[in-house]
Amino acid sequence: MSLLQVSDLRITFESGFGTVDAVRGVSFSMEMGDAIAVVGASGSGKTVMGRSLLGLVDAPGIVRGSIMFNGTEIVGRSEKAMQDIRGLGIGMVFQDALDGLNPVYTIGSQLSEIFAVRMRMSTKAARAEAIRIMEQVGIHNAKDRFDNYPHQFSGGMRQRICIAMAIGMKPKILIADEPTTALDVTVQAGILRLIKSLQAETGMGLIFVTHDLAVARMISKRIIVMYAGQIVEEGLTEEIFQRPRHPYTRALLMAHPGRVKSWRDLEPIPEAFVTDSSSGGGGSASAPQVVISQ
Ligand SMILES: Nc1ncnc2c1ncn2[C@@H]1O[C@H](COP(=O)(O)OP(=O)(O)OP(=O)(O)O)[C@@H](O)[C@H]1O
Ligand SMILES: [Mg+2]
Repeated sequence: MSLLQVSDLRITFESGFGTVDAVRGVSFSMEMGDAIAVVGASGSGKTVMGRSLLGLVDAPGIVRGSIMFNGTEIVGRSEKAMQDIRGLGIGMVFQDALDGLNPVYTIGSQLSEIFAVRMRMSTKAARAEAIRIMEQVGIHNAKDRFDNYPHQFSGGMRQRICIAMAIGMKPKILIADEPTTALDVTVQAGILRLIKSLQAETGMGLIFVTHDLAVARMISKRIIVMYAGQIVEEGLTEEIFQRPRHPYTRALLMAHPGRVKSWRDLEPIPEAFVTDSSSGGGGSASAPQVVISQ
């Protein structure tokens, strides 16, 4: 039995103007420790597919087919049943960190609420766990920053906090939907490294949605290429880069001349792992940098 088995997934949106077939018969499976990048042009169905794994396709969307997570069917489950799967089983990080954070509560209270309410820890234990996980995702002085509000953090730091919230409950699968698109390239490299190292530590499966093939190459072992709601190519990341079979994949690769060719080409100076250039505080002498070799 696979950790995740998606079979003939179909997602449609009905409207007065007709039907949009956003996902048209997608099938794939993944195991613990897999790192899959889902690439494809805008509108190819990546986000809708990712959200369906969490039961987050809202009306007028209709989901058909099967999504088996750890032996449990997700398609057709009630919202209440899905709440247990979200977080504990499958966590998600969105493109814009502000989507995942509530502006009127402190970061510490939002994080510790997860542990107190969802994992039934005491207030004291939840606070300690929140601080531990803030440190784990690279927030310095986590104890002092516990009482800060989201707007007091940079975009990259907010995204780290969203990652902390998603992995806090130790999900078996993390879905990251373009989590670095809104960030500058220096911060982006740090977040990608963070996600990779958390995955190595926890053994969780990773589904990473991106339109950027260079990012896909860095983060994944396998790539799924989507085009107009269908998987047009799937395979080991390096094989797809060496021998793209589908004309669309070739076109995607051609559209990235001279881009980063491997993970090693992106070499952050160590501080980039744990700090953002835009985080305001700290102000170390050697600002984090990313060297992209040609
Ligand atoms: N709520 C909705 N109502 C109607 N159509 C929708 C809705 N959400 C998504 N769609 C349609 O589903 C299709 C797939 O959209 P989706 O957002 O999954 O694409 P994507 O691959 O994530 O694109 P991008 O790279 O721009 O994020 C698009 O045609 C989109 O217009
Ligand atoms: Mg999208």
